Amino acid sequence: MTILRINDVFLQFAGSNRPALQKINYQIHQGDFVILLGSNGSGKSTLLKLLHRQYQPGQGEIYFHDKPIRQHHYHQFSRQVAVLNQNVADSLFTSLTVYENYLLMNQQHTLRSRHQEGKTFLQNYLQDFNPNLSGKVDLTINQLSGGEKQALALALCLLEPPSLLLLDEHTSALDPKTSEQIMQLTQKMITQHNMTCILTTHDLDIALRYGNRILMLNDGSILNMFDKDEKGRLSKDKLYAAIMHNRPAYHISTLSREPFGRGYLHPACLYLTYLLV
Ligand SMILES: Nc1ncnc2c1ncn2[C@@H]1O[C@H](COP(=O)(O)OP(=O)(O)OP(=O)(O)O)[C@@H](O)[C@H]1O
Ligand SMILES: [Mg+2]
Repeated sequence: MTILRINDVFLQFAGSNRPALQKINYQIHQGDFVILLGSNGSGKSTLLKLLHRQYQPGQGEIYFHDKPIRQHHYHQFSRQVAVLNQNVADSLFTSLTVYENYLLMNQQHTLRSRHQEGKTFLQNYLQDFNPNLSGKVDLTINQLSGGEKQALALALCLLEPPSLLLLDEHTSALDPKTSEQIMQLTQKMITQHNMTCILTTHDLDIALRYGNRILMLNDGSILNMFDKDEKGRLSKDKLYAAIMHNRPAYHISTLSREPFGRGYLHPACLYLTYLLV
């Protein structure tokens, strides 16, 4: 079942002399976990913001369950589509406590009101995400570590698990161990609640290890799309080369030989292959 259809989307910010996104055509199916790649400024966050209705496309249309997203009732739409922003401070009120953030988030879901307004519920709920957080519900967000903030932002975002989860570099500021913990937690939640997910990252290990599809942007346009089987055949070198040279990876299949050892490709070899294809 197609959950999201992006039809010929174009967006140019006021005052900019070039489009931030153009000719974006893509479909996402129920249960997909799409890894969105691309260099700085390639349009990843802008695309997520369009999908979350923070921006409107200048041209084109985005359909959620076969209906243009702008025609969905906003309140219901925002229950089904959740976003974790690149900057965690955009998702949390940093001068309020963990508990106060929870109360505010909970208030947005009062119509279903499944959650008690008690600290005990919150402490038990957070235990699954990060045991350290359970004892810190009265601390302000500013008093938490980066990893605790990310775990909290994810936990609050999943209080009512959405059907579509948009994650914008939600592990980028974390050390490798904490990043891995948050990624495993993310994967666990996605599987447990059968969510569809789009995740942006610059970490090629994450891109290869997680998700079933890759969408790669360059300068506001789609550079590459890899579905399940193709993604399974990708190496880190191919992905790296595609990003570095802004070229479709199917043009550089010889890079998979990894002549200088696993995970490393000599720049001269990269350049030679680039000239030959
Ligand atoms: N609110 C805005 N107003 C004007 N231009 C913007 C705005 N937001 C983004 N842009 C521009 O749109 C382009 C795409 O930005 P975007 O933030 O989507 O990139 P990104 O792929 O998420 O980059 P990064 O990896 O650095 O997060 C950039 O050229 C950026 O300067
Ligand atoms: Mg971004």
